Amino acid sequence: MQRLLVTGGAGFIGSCFVKLALNSGYQVILVDSLTYAGDLERLKDAKGHFKFYKADIRDFKKLEEVFKKEKPHTVIHFAAETHVDRSILDPASFLKTNIEGSYNLYELSKIYNLSLFINIITDEVYGDIKEGKFHEDSQLKPNSPYSASKAAQDMLGRAYHRTYGLPIITLRPSNNYGPWQYPEKLIPVVIIKALQEEPVPIYGDGNNIREWLYVDDCAEAILMVLEKGRVGEIYNIGSAVEKKNIEVVKAILSILKKPESLIQFVKDRPGHDYRYALNTDKIEREVGWKAKTRFDEGIEKTVRWYLQNIDWVMSKLSALRSYWDRVYQFMAKDKE
Ligand code: NAD
Ligand code: DAU
Repeated sequence: MQRLLVTGGAGFIGSCFVKLALNSGYQVILVDSLTYAGDLERLKDAKGHFKFYKADIRDFKKLEEVFKKEKPHTVIHFAAETHVDRSILDPASFLKTNIEGSYNLYELSKIYNLSLFINIITDEVYGDIKEGKFHEDSQLKPNSPYSASKAAQDMLGRAYHRTYGLPIITLRPSNNYGPWQYPEKLIPVVIIKALQEEPVPIYGDGNNIREWLYVDDCAEAILMVLEKGRVGEIYNIGSAVEKKNIEVVKAILSILKKPESLIQFVKDRPGHDYRYALNTDKIEREVGWKAKTRFDEGIEKTVRWYLQNIDWVMSKLSALRSYWDRVYQFMAKDKE
């Protein structure tokens, strides 16, 4: 049975992937430092056994102990600092985790001769695009400290493949949504603010476009790439579901039966990418994967999940409030 070492498996997408991998019969070794975004609660209903190491990917020695002891076949690397707004406030932690932490994993995977390394990157490395779609060989033009750190992670992985033969596959997914997303990202922010009848902040004019991918579909794509993907290749993972932010917000307000008067247009995110859009012909052709979940279905399920799990959200609220104070203060200062 294949042993997968999953970094960031206590996070939003990582935990969804871990549950799918366990259901599919894989052994899972989970490595996560449990930052503000990590929570083992996400795995409470996981079926099957996984081994958990509380370890920081920036700590080479600690990681080496795990590699030595567990001898994994494959690494699936999700662990990262992931929020664009936080990267604008505090870029340093993004460089440390996303670049140095990834370097530690590449180096150890080289030393311990791993069979496969799945590198979870992001569509944000391409920058934004007004028309058309990004292909896997489009130029990387990241615009935020977050996406620049992910582009560096991506490029260093490529270099380890070319120079040392590290068997790496690079994945670039679009915006994920669904249950268990930490409530700092657009969709859970809107749900929570609307439920509390607080102003729902939309950056700029709300016309920015994201490609929304239901998290179960993303996890399935990653598992299928693990089984059928070609080493050394890059695969985009997208849904073709393009929505303006304002459309997403209105859809959520309508499900919750909350008034659109809650919408508050606020100062734009600095460097805000206008539109992301991915061409996914390659993953469809080579791996046989295509996103299944329609947006109306996915958003309905997501809103329902947050309503049913409001206690989990509330447990995050006081930390969130102090983060929101910082981010909104920063935006206000920028306006003067
Ligand atoms: P998340 O923020 O929900 O979870 C990140 C996880 O990584 C958490 O469990 C956290 O504790 C862990 N972590 C952070 N720093 C760590 C460190 N130094 N050592 C060990 N563990 C650490 O993230 P997510 O949204 O699930 O994203 C997972 C991956 O997918 C990331 O690499 C992200 O860049 C990428 N991605 C996310 C999206 C999205 O829409 N969420 C889209 C494309 C790509
Ligand atoms: O595209 C993939 C990326 O998607 C991932 O790599 C990132 O980890 C993930 O965080 C996400 O980045 P975005 O910046 O696109 O996601 P976020 O949910 O922060 O914002 C989505 C859009 O909504 C974006 O245009 C900014 C806007 N927004 C966001 C928040 C939090 C608002 O208008 N108001 C808000 O309060």
